[in-house]
Amino acid sequence: MASMFILMCFFISLAFVSYVHYASRQRRKGDRGDGHGKAVRLPPGSMGWPYIGETLQLYSQDPNVFFASKQKRYGEIFKTHLLGCPCVMLASPEAARFVLVTRAHLFKPTYPRSKERMIGPWALFFHQGDYHLRLRRLVQGPLGPDALRALVPDVEAAVRSTLASWDGNVVSTFHTMKRLSFDVGVVTIFGGRLDERRKAELRQNYAVVEKGYNSFPNSFPGTLYHKAIQARRRLHGVLNDIMRERRARGEPGSDLLGCLMQSRAPGDDGDVALLTDEQVADNVIGVLFAAQDTTASVLTWIVKYLHHNPKLLEAVRAEQAAIRDANDGGARPLTWAQTRSMVLTHRVILESFRMASIISFTFREAVADVEYKGFLIPKGWKVMPLFRNIHHNPNYFQDPQKFYPSRFKVPPRPNTFMAFGNGVHACPGNELAKLEILVLIHHLVTGYRWEIVGSSDEVEYSPFPVPKHGLLAKLWRDNSVSVHTDGCQNGDNDDNGVVIV
Ligand code: HEM
Repeated sequence: MASMFILMCFFISLAFVSYVHYASRQRRKGDRGDGHGKAVRLPPGSMGWPYIGETLQLYSQDPNVFFASKQKRYGEIFKTHLLGCPCVMLASPEAARFVLVTRAHLFKPTYPRSKERMIGPWALFFHQGDYHLRLRRLVQGPLGPDALRALVPDVEAAVRSTLASWDGNVVSTFHTMKRLSFDVGVVTIFGGRLDERRKAELRQNYAVVEKGYNSFPNSFPGTLYHKAIQARRRLHGVLNDIMRERRARGEPGSDLLGCLMQSRAPGDDGDVALLTDEQVADNVIGVLFAAQDTTASVLTWIVKYLHHNPKLLEAVRAEQAAIRDANDGGARPLTWAQTRSMVLTHRVILESFRMASIISFTFREAVADVEYKGFLIPKGWKVMPLFRNIHHNPNYFQDPQKFYPSRFKVPPRPNTFMAFGNGVHACPGNELAKLEILVLIHHLVTGYRWEIVGSSDEVEYSPFPVPKHGLLAKLWRDNSVSVHTDGCQNGDNDDNGVVIV
């Protein structure tokens, strides 16, 4: 007992001494000049305990409450210490723009090494500079409007099959939507030419990689992380086989994989391949990763928001029913032009992006000491633009807790709406994500009704926020969905459908 007491006293004293040492180091750091006689100081905020910082506070409550209460206390720029790293949080559109756009070269993307290893170190989002630019140019083609136009039938087929498998069952909406966004990702990357066996191999191995990505990085055999590293190797094997088969046929293809495989640059002895097969494979896995949980989380929120706003749902149904009628009751396929004409549905999607803000923030790391508005952001510190705080700030979005699609009749103020980020790393998949969501909503509201099972008030992180249990819901086909079209053809009737969540 006595030895226990002595041990406790020892640890408490050790923590206290380290804290004093750490606090004085931080103070010294904060008193730096800018080299021109002007004093620059660290932003306000608290750094918590040595090494663990404020990580426990962050994880013991809703992270959005943590960031919002900090902003209330310290303002739009504040410091903290999370997961072993000193951080500066930025909750103003100007500061986010500074980091992501105007001074992007001073802030590099930063991810834990374990995550880089899992996705593949050559994936574009880990990079800056020439390699990153080159890859962006390559992926933008197959993810741009011209390529997506041709993809509408494949996306529609994936949506129909997802809804048919849900029909009559109670399922986790999130898991169902994950399957859909994986299928759409596969169609985008492989152009719908992948046989079912290969697709199943990709799906199985990718699922193991994903579990490991979200687990503690421990390479002991049997752990989720170890299994994931092995599954990643198998994924590379499958991708290498697919590339080999395409080369043997002499048809690399014009889909995303084909574009990555065919990229060439002038070399000393003629054109050389721009990317190795390993780089291609890392980027294929990277795109699948970036596309799946993001789109699935937003779709889950949309299913909930529409269900909770019956008048809005009727207005959306009316807009979609008019398109279905024009397509002979759904006998003819949707067209790209029709997806561009879904004015009200598009506003619902934008408002869902804002409201759910599933990517609450992003990370960068300062590559030099940087001064912003008299504050020092020291080299090596993490910098986090807080998208959600900006999307929920009443100065930019009135009554931010209201689900109110009409607010998007007027474009938001520049740099205040960053569902897809901003600057050089902004999401290249945004048009694909919107297309998938529009097509899903079209078929959902014109062919089905659904009921949410249990409470949908609590939120879980998987890793993005979604309603608890991924929103359990029952769906059933209803070919006779009655549609009230009075005055809502142009999407002007959504003002009634508001809810506070
Ligand atoms: C609703 C769905 C989606 C949301 C909310 C979303 C959001 C974002 C955001 C905020 C970023 C920027 C991250 C940062 O600056 O650190 C990003 C980057 C990225 N997204 Fe998306 N995304 C979505 C869907 C997709 C899809 C469908 C794809 C691909 C098919 C995709 C591919 C990417 C890639 C490759 C990057 C990295 C870009 C770079 O580093 O240059 N995303 N996404």
